[in-house]
Amino acid sequence: MAKILLTGGTVLSSSGASSADVLLEGETIAALGERGYFASIASTCDRVIDATGKYVMPGGVDVHTHMELPFGGTAASDTFETGTIAAAFGGTTSIVDFAVQRTGEDVRDGLAAWHAKADGNCAVDYGFHQIIGGVDDAALEAMAYLSEHEGVTSFKLFMAYPGVFYSDDGQILRAMQTASGLGATIMMHAENGPAIDVLVAQALARGETDPKYHSLTRPVELEEEATHRAIMLAKVAKAPLYIVHVSAKEAVAAVASARDMGANVFGETCPQYLYLSLEEHLAKAGFEGAAYVCSTPLRSRKEGHHDALWQALRTNDLSIVSTDHCPFCMKDQKELGLGNFSKIPNGIGSVEHRMDLLYQGVVTGEISLARWVELACTTPARMFGLYPRKGVLAPGSDADVVIYDPKGTTDISVKTHHMNMDHSAYEGIHVDGRVDTVLSRGRVVIENNTFTGSVGHGTYLKRGLSQYLL
Ligand code: URP
Ligand code: ZN
Ligand code: ZN
Repeated sequence: MAKILLTGGTVLSSSGASSADVLLEGETIAALGERGYFASIASTCDRVIDATGKYVMPGGVDVHTHMELPFGGTAASDTFETGTIAAAFGGTTSIVDFAVQRTGEDVRDGLAAWHAKADGNCAVDYGFHQIIGGVDDAALEAMAYLSEHEGVTSFKLFMAYPGVFYSDDGQILRAMQTASGLGATIMMHAENGPAIDVLVAQALARGETDPKYHSLTRPVELEEEATHRAIMLAKVAKAPLYIVHVSAKEAVAAVASARDMGANVFGETCPQYLYLSLEEHLAKAGFEGAAYVCSTPLRSRKEGHHDALWQALRTNDLSIVSTDHCPFCMKDQKELGLGNFSKIPNGIGSVEHRMDLLYQGVVTGEISLARWVELACTTPARMFGLYPRKGVLAPGSDADVVIYDPKGTTDISVKTHHMNMDHSAYEGIHVDGRVDTVLSRGRVVIENNTFTGSVGHGTYLKRGLSQYLL
């Protein structure tokens, strides 16, 4: 069994930082010791990595990605191979992607299709949530099977996208009741889709076709209303609820108020809602704004959403930062919406940049170092049944480790990223900090800015239930 010793670094966890050395044996962490504790066995190790001046932290856990997702007449441009290599470059060593079932389809076939896409093609470990796009008796039965036998313990429903993934309130209630019985988590895309469709048709009829109308036809009220409705339905069903990609401060308030009343309601946001905005990005001249079309949409900075999201990350009103990585190229993909914003495939790719972008919140004083680890590594693992295998550096945990150089810098650009995209939503952004070395289950997969892992190294993660529930 290969032994690797990480010396000299500052070990980070969700509860703080300490000077410690870390011993890895095979695929797991063998022990953590005070500085120098392992000196007498260093010569017996296969490798000693000097992390002096750097952070040694758990590998990132991104619980919201869409590799190869069919959407809007095309499919997300990252395969499991390209997407997980990019994830590794960015210090993310586990992803949880979304298998898809639509109306009339068999849920188990949907899951099998996602296994077929990912199996043998991943550079880091991966699990699945299941999208239930057609709630019926068979789908509800399949939820039980997936949760009990397949390690798929979370199910995404959509209040948006009528005719594609949409569920009505009765369907949502039934799925929530089923989840409640299983202890499984319902993940909700909370936007009022039928109302949005009316606003979209009216905007197009007025000749409003530019990308910025994507946001203007998805007003905050329709995110707020859907978030509140989802919370009420979950209350009736007594089901745990996790609101995905929260972008509006009004939706944050709905989540916060449910949590204040003791409900099992959780929320995530994503880097795009912290850094990008309607005015500065989506409303760019011409068709450039198409790069920033995602749902929920980018919000106006002057309305205070960005500040409210950072605050909610500090106060734990929001629990996780994931990416909702759903990349589309401009050419041939986003271009499908030239002259009609409603045909632009929804999604932004950033699986490679989540750890760096969130670290900027540490640099600018928005969050602490410990909270960075908690939001990006530990809580995602606990929320989705991967802890303590993932999300923490502790004896027995998988040896998924990031050595992060706080004195390094990263310039984000399409010229240097590894995602299969012909543009970057963060082009030209200069980031303080740099992913130095990444290990996945004891294997060095990134060093010297080079991928040293192998496709197929990533294994499927059968997940347990959320560890935030009684
Ligand atoms: O714009 C987005 N978010 N695309 C991916 C699908 C989803 O709703 O998460
Ligand atoms: Zn969604
Ligand atoms: Zn998504």
